[in-house]
Amino acid sequence: MKILVIGSGGREHAVCRSFQKSGRAVRLYCADGNAGIAALAECVPIKPDEIEKLAGFAESEAIDLTFVGGETALALGITDEFEKRGLKIVGVSGSAARLEASKAFAKDFMARHGIPTARYRTAFSTAEARAVLDSGFFGDERAPAVVKADGLAAGKGVVVAPDRAAAVRAIEELENLVGRAAAEKIVLEECLVGREVSLLAFCDGENFALMPPVRDHKRIGEGDTGPNTGGMGTISDRSLLTAEQIAQIAADIIEPTLAGARADGFPIRGILFLGLMLTVEGIKVLEYNVRFGDPETQVILIQLETDLVEICEAMLGQTLDRIEIEWRPGSAACVVLAAENYPNRPRTGDRIDGLEAAAALDHTEIFHAGTKRDAAGRFVTAGGRVLGVTAVGDDLPEALERAYRAVAEISWDGMQFRRDIGGSLSLES
Ligand code: AMP
Ligand code: GLY
Repeated sequence: MKILVIGSGGREHAVCRSFQKSGRAVRLYCADGNAGIAALAECVPIKPDEIEKLAGFAESEAIDLTFVGGETALALGITDEFEKRGLKIVGVSGSAARLEASKAFAKDFMARHGIPTARYRTAFSTAEARAVLDSGFFGDERAPAVVKADGLAAGKGVVVAPDRAAAVRAIEELENLVGRAAAEKIVLEECLVGREVSLLAFCDGENFALMPPVRDHKRIGEGDTGPNTGGMGTISDRSLLTAEQIAQIAADIIEPTLAGARADGFPIRGILFLGLMLTVEGIKVLEYNVRFGDPETQVILIQLETDLVEICEAMLGQTLDRIEIEWRPGSAACVVLAAENYPNRPRTGDRIDGLEAAAALDHTEIFHAGTKRDAAGRFVTAGGRVLGVTAVGDDLPEALERAYRAVAEISWDGMQFRRDIGGSLSLES
């Protein structure tokens, strides 16, 4: 069976690893991969936004199954193009991808289908956005508000403003931050308070199967300080959500989301990723993503015991209700090792030492994100987030200890990471 994975990050390395562990004889391809993925898959130099080329490659190589890692290709309609050509692909349609690609679309969808989320207004210009704030929609000048660019902004399009003056500044700066297209519409939201957690589900349009809950650490600095990044680490631990909370999310959020999407004509067949806030008024949706997260996937898939090929086939065949998906009991943690100067323009080309020793440790997987090999065949840094050092354990402290033990083996000039991943895990709020 020939499988093509689309993307080049740690998420895609984890997906490739899961496919490699399949009971089927799998031949893996990845477009366009990285130096770690190259050990498992044949890397093909096609970028995720080159939809026609990817479809052409899948046709000419007779790929049996394609798995899409990130949102760019999904938003561009890769799934629709592959399906038009009769190619099997796991990932939502372009219409369903609007749940992630347009925050205004997602908020209207939630409002229409009664899905709990923060109160909001969509503005079509900077002036209109200011007028919404001045109208007192969020309360007086001291009230916080959240300013969001409508379009895809790689995590940079959200500003949590502590008061109205800061919100006005955020509105004015948004276009510089994310570009004109992404900031054409501005979503203003009430600021929610609570603990954040992410819950992902495999979906076949009708049925869904939950994955273990995850928490990410978005800020670059310890103690959640400094600018946001794509993610500096994640943990997965059953204590993040109680059984009651999971049942409530399934009934009040996931079921109405799947039913709403069907009613609106874009059934969700692929992965649904809920960013949630546990507030005193109940659990609310912060955002939808329609794909695996990075580095959420690393801690999720390291716990997956069922064959990922079987799950993909069930998503495509609408038979998710007929399979039992098994997860390793316990916890998992991923510590991201980033290059100097990340999340600004990272320095690249630094030689990475200690990878072999780290990879040899038990219960640990080193997922590559921004790596390549130099002329001498040695691993060097090639991006902002370089490696995702991931481990499982019987409980969270054990998983964290194993991940950090592996981190201690690895080094390069300018390597940075957070020492407090999983540290602020607490159940209050
Ligand atoms: P998003 O990309 O929409 O998930 O937003 C990124 C981050 O901004 C979230 O993970 C939250 O930490 C924060 N955020 C987004 N929306 C809100 C909100 N309404 N209230 C408080 N924080 C928010
Ligand atoms: N780690 C956040 C994301 O993948 O969206």
